[in-house]
Amino acid sequence: MKIAVAGTGYVGLVTGVCLASKGHDVTCVDVDEHKVKMMQEGVSPIYEPGLSELMKENMERLTFTTDYKNAYKDAEVIFIGVGTPEKSDGSANLTFVNQVAKQIAQSVERDCVVVVKSTVPIGTNDKLEQYIHDKQVHDVKVYVASNPEFLAQGTAVKDTLHASRIIIGSDEPAAIEALQKVYRDFPAPKLVVNRKSAEMIKYASNDFLALKISYINEIANLCETVGADIEEVTAGMGFDRRIGDSFLRAGIGYGGSCFPKDTKALSWLASFNDNEIRTVKAAIEVNDNQKFKLLKKARKYYDDFLDLNVAVLGCTFKPGTDDLREAPSLVNVPFLLEEGANIKLWDPVGTNNFKRQVPSLKIRYCETIEETLENCDICFIFTEWEDVKNFNVEKYSSLMKNPVVLDGRNCYSLKQFDGTDIIYDSIGRPVVNLNKS
Ligand code: UGA
Repeated sequence: MKIAVAGTGYVGLVTGVCLASKGHDVTCVDVDEHKVKMMQEGVSPIYEPGLSELMKENMERLTFTTDYKNAYKDAEVIFIGVGTPEKSDGSANLTFVNQVAKQIAQSVERDCVVVVKSTVPIGTNDKLEQYIHDKQVHDVKVYVASNPEFLAQGTAVKDTLHASRIIIGSDEPAAIEALQKVYRDFPAPKLVVNRKSAEMIKYASNDFLALKISYINEIANLCETVGADIEEVTAGMGFDRRIGDSFLRAGIGYGGSCFPKDTKALSWLASFNDNEIRTVKAAIEVNDNQKFKLLKKARKYYDDFLDLNVAVLGCTFKPGTDDLREAPSLVNVPFLLEEGANIKLWDPVGTNNFKRQVPSLKIRYCETIEETLENCDICFIFTEWEDVKNFNVEKYSSLMKNPVVLDGRNCYSLKQFDGTDIIYDSIGRPVVNLNKS
């Protein structure tokens, strides 16, 4: 099929490349000329495992352009995958989606289906369809369908090619048929629902996952107080299939471009409609506090952080991505700097973005974990990179001046610290070697 995709971020580019890999002719449109030039040369502007390879393999079916008119005019299906960032009041900013809708209305010259992948508030698809009908230049049939995206950063290609489900939100047979055809070679179960339900499925899914994380983080905090071990607790809970064993990893809170904004957007939408969604509000509040958990722990070992030598391992919001949006490191490192700490930071892919967001001469960026730890008084782990998880823990003792390890992602088992002089303080578990402080 002839497909156009608006936006080449995580959602748009991954969708475009995966559709091309299934034999469709895909034109990806972006306003950023620099990005488009990179992609024309077969270079992915985002770090996503497997994406560059898949892109290179399918270049003959992929076109990258800023020329939306040509891309949209004869496309059978146009995907919208642009960002819907958060506005200052928490609601979703639809500027980019509306901009694309305007361009579609100006450009389409044949019957087509506009498929909204961007996460948009419930009711947006209806408004977009009406808007396009009112503004379209040519007399053709344009249907709008909702097709929310469930890919996670770091596993985006896998999540798209082997999706848990494909939601087709439309009441229009022609639109449903077109989407069935687009996804013919995708093995996922396909569920056809009305547009508003499709929009709600996206928010309800993301917010439920955020809620699950905040819930388990609160249980973890309680475990610390009563002397239980959250890893044992979640292992026990996970056997219950009604609960499931995923998204129960306790830590220093969720970050990223999705959970923080989608929880706030749903909460805003509920209040706007005179409803209150108290569980989601609570999840947001718990997460905001959880991000400071390691700083609170650090106070147990040092009254102040002036001239303290701090090692930071990981700065991205999760492993497998260079994305820093809403990452706990972004609130913790500036706080430590303000208090006068000297920071050494290691991250395999996130440091360039971090330098831009937290410009400071007091941060030394290191190439290896060993170099980061050398002579430090305390270590903060913000991201569970494999390199950190596989690191020989004895080296914390041999390299650091004072081996205090605060682990915000529970990278190690407690046993690994038995018989060492390392104080190991993680989330929801007893502190190892506390009496050695
Ligand atoms: C999330 C959802 O998982 C995707 O299904 C969804 O499509 C996407 O948002 C989106 O709306 O576009 P993503 O933000 O890429 O994907 O990352 P996740 O893997 O869900 O992780 C989000 C945050 O939760 C990370 O900071 C992670 O460390 C944290 N997390 C995750 C936990 O603290 N505990 C867990 O058990 C799981």
